[in-house]
Amino acid sequence: MGKRYHVTTFGCQMNVHDSERMRGMLESLGYEEASSRDGADLILFNTCSIRESADNRFVAHLGEAKRLKSEHPDRVVGVGGCWAQSVKDEVFQRFPFVDVAFGPGQIHKLAEFLNSDSLSAQGYFEFEDFSASLPTLRVREFQGWLQVSQGCNCKCSYCIVPSTRGREVSRDPAQLVAEAEALAADGVREVTLLGQNVNSYGRDLPKETRIGFSGLLGRIDAIDGIDRIRYTSPHPKDMKEDVIRAHAELPALCEHIHLPLQSGSSAVLKRMRRTYDRQRYMDRVSLIREHVPDCAITTDIIVGFPGETEADFEQTLEVVDEVGYDGAFTFVFSPRRETEAAELGEQVPHPIKVERMERLVELVQARAAEQAQRFVGREIEVLVEGTSRTDETRLRGRTRHNKAVNFDGEAEPGEFVNVEISVATSQTLSGVAAKPLSRLL
Ligand code: 5AD
Ligand code: SF4
Repeated sequence: MGKRYHVTTFGCQMNVHDSERMRGMLESLGYEEASSRDGADLILFNTCSIRESADNRFVAHLGEAKRLKSEHPDRVVGVGGCWAQSVKDEVFQRFPFVDVAFGPGQIHKLAEFLNSDSLSAQGYFEFEDFSASLPTLRVREFQGWLQVSQGCNCKCSYCIVPSTRGREVSRDPAQLVAEAEALAADGVREVTLLGQNVNSYGRDLPKETRIGFSGLLGRIDAIDGIDRIRYTSPHPKDMKEDVIRAHAELPALCEHIHLPLQSGSSAVLKRMRRTYDRQRYMDRVSLIREHVPDCAITTDIIVGFPGETEADFEQTLEVVDEVGYDGAFTFVFSPRRETEAAELGEQVPHPIKVERMERLVELVQARAAEQAQRFVGREIEVLVEGTSRTDETRLRGRTRHNKAVNFDGEAEPGEFVNVEISVATSQTLSGVAAKPLSRLL
């Protein structure tokens, strides 16, 4: 029997995509996927380091890998991704049972290791170009990722990513278009463009091939078969009018913008080194509302950044109330190694962070629930993903606004159906399927 592998993925969509590429590469090397870790010859972790909780979660899993390795010393344990990059060679000191460690995106290095008969532990942490030639095994055949750039040139004072993923490098537009065409030919209906700061795409490209992010969106929109385009995550400082207009003009580009706020206080934003203030952020929101009135807007918010006062926090609440987000990811500030914010004095006491978080979540949910009522009574296009998580007699899918929908009806994953929405909560919509869309016929 061939060798078996098992991958556990932590962190963002970039990691989900990297894991798909790991799977594709391993299968091309003759490996098969094992359903659990104890059935695997190769145990892999694709790690995240964005907050301390991410580190802790992963280290607990590593304990199991240690036990499995001691039962079968031939097993290979590999650790890739941002946590591995952020602690580098320390991995082998702290966890001597790890055989191979590599930074984010360096999946080809894993292949090199597996093909090398290497007996000693290996670490691969040089930043390199994106290796585009790897096969990919997608989680869902009708949804695909397209990594448009790697790295990040921002200096957000709380964030570990610039140190784990290096400087920003945009990929060649012709290569990206070819990759998107190949995805479409392979049955992908919805593509998500990925980058740490996706809308600064293109600035570093040579003059002859340079296009900006809106140009890239236009070229992908023109590909037959791609019915939906999403992207994540943009930076408000680079959210220019051309990208916002593209949401109104390009048929495939979804009516959803994730616009990370982080804080509503200009003083805090300054210490975060976000390079916009509350007013400029709100100007972006107004521009979105002007060009794409029905656009869903979601965000990321950090509470308890060092020095955040009650008045600062109240400004965050004000912005949440004014914008009326369709949803928000909320995080308690977590000091990260070698970041500027970890060194700032004035850390906010834990009970205050928790209390602020509760108030924030309450307001986010209340406003999201109010916003969601605009969908009730409408017939909305849903891309079917499978059965509902809570009721297996129902189906589940997503709208262009990125709302999850549970509905009654019959359809296969990957199909588009129209759903009449009858109930809306802060998180999900519910309804009944109407007639199939004509584009399916
Ligand atoms: N502490 C808490 N949240 C953080 N994020 C990034 N770094 C930290 C940190 N040190 C959040 C930001 C970012 C999201 C992906 O994670 O809100 O947008
Ligand atoms: Fe985690 Fe950030 Fe790395 Fe994604 S880029 S895996 S969120 S640390």
